[in-house]
Amino acid sequence: MRTLISGGTIVNADGSVEADVLVDGHTIAAVGRLTATTDGLGGSGESGLAGQVDRRIDASGKYVIPGAIDVHTHMELPFGGTAAKDTFETGTLAAAFGGTTTILDFAVQPRGGSLRAGLDAWHAKAEGNCAIDYGFHMIMSDVNEQTLAEMDQLVAEGVTDFKLFTAYPGVFFSDDGAIFRAMKQTAKNGGLIMMHAENGLAIDVVAAETHAAGKTDPYYHGVVRYPIFEGEATNRVIRLAEAAGVPVYIVHLSARDALNEVRAARDRGANAFAETCPQYLFLSLDDLGNGFEGAKYVCSPPLRPKDHWDDLWKGLVKDDLQVVSTDHCPFDFEGQKELGRGDFRKVPNGLPGVEDRVDLLHDGGVVGGPLTKERWVELVSAAPARLFGLAGRKGVIAAGADADIVVYDPNRRHTISASTHHMNVDYSCYEGREVQGGSDVVLSRGKVIIENGEYVGQKGDGRFLKRTPSEFLS
Ligand code: URP
Ligand code: ZN
Ligand code: ZN
Repeated sequence: MRTLISGGTIVNADGSVEADVLVDGHTIAAVGRLTATTDGLGGSGESGLAGQVDRRIDASGKYVIPGAIDVHTHMELPFGGTAAKDTFETGTLAAAFGGTTTILDFAVQPRGGSLRAGLDAWHAKAEGNCAIDYGFHMIMSDVNEQTLAEMDQLVAEGVTDFKLFTAYPGVFFSDDGAIFRAMKQTAKNGGLIMMHAENGLAIDVVAAETHAAGKTDPYYHGVVRYPIFEGEATNRVIRLAEAAGVPVYIVHLSARDALNEVRAARDRGANAFAETCPQYLFLSLDDLGNGFEGAKYVCSPPLRPKDHWDDLWKGLVKDDLQVVSTDHCPFDFEGQKELGRGDFRKVPNGLPGVEDRVDLLHDGGVVGGPLTKERWVELVSAAPARLFGLAGRKGVIAAGADADIVVYDPNRRHTISASTHHMNVDYSCYEGREVQGGSDVVLSRGKVIIENGEYVGQKGDGRFLKRTPSEFLS
């Protein structure tokens, strides 16, 4: 199957050009002025230099961008006494509608169990169900001789990153010794350490005091998790990573306190990276107010006061933050978030977002903010590919890359709403927000999967991605 995408503006992280894209099978065969004919005449069934094509897509007036990569999702994550509502089927479908053609999800080591058991369980959930390509990171909550040895095997299988937590005592929490051991092992096996950096032990002290004082609403979730607790933990894990000689990636960075630590580390040459998420750029502590409605906005780290926004945007511009992911972890308001009525500590932590990231960042970053369209592509696609071992295959429109392509209309406006989104969750954090920009046509490895507002792919089209260690690490 040969597809010609013509007339659009190709936007890559390193520049934009008006050119055509020829897709042959699963990959991009050529990029350039392909519709001009050598004799100026062309011919029926032909597309000039592109030769015979089976299908043409007119991208005039549109951007042609590499499919976006969301390196932080939690499909079907058991958490907070329930489980994230999107399955791999519903979550990857929603991602595709939003222009995301790859997700990296977090497999979870079962408590007291092996990494292998966790990884096998995640393969079983995803295989045959995904609309787009997918890979895994591994959440480690129990560092011991066995799991340390298993880490090397996982890297060899293309699961090259390990997430550890200084938060959630009694659930995913690891102490500094365990974190340091995992870091030292990863320094040897070529992988990457991902850190949820909040001081969970200190947070629990403040949370218990606050709840005991009768302050039980979701708003207090945002109050007790001080920004300084995120800054402290971020500094600590980066320092530990420096001591271990391993690259470290701070996930879902929300506060200027943490950003300052990442910037300082990078300035002194540390191999430290960080992502933020749309919720920390567009939502704030104010959203956690409004009584129990605020439960819709409970995630960790929490939404911060609005004055953190500007710092995060500057961080994105200056490359102190390299990636925007979603931390997609949706729970219904009814029946799931409600588990925390009367106790903010029991609201399941997590927000939906996999479908909205590309458009929110285009609207708030490119149309109405400080990002160039190239930096936008870098943050949602190119940098994730480079950092997570997909360089050359994903995150770029170039000959030889996988044909994960989005024909993106930078002018189309739409209103985000739970009544129209495809995520399997009963509310939207951005209900009623109008955004400019939308994915018109989405190709996954050469196959059109979204067009005319419809899904035209097949469940199971998505393949597992065996990844290589990150390009940024050498
Ligand atoms: O609130 C969040 N972030 N839920 C998902 C789990 C995590 O910590 O990433
Ligand atoms: Zn986390
Ligand atoms: Zn997460």
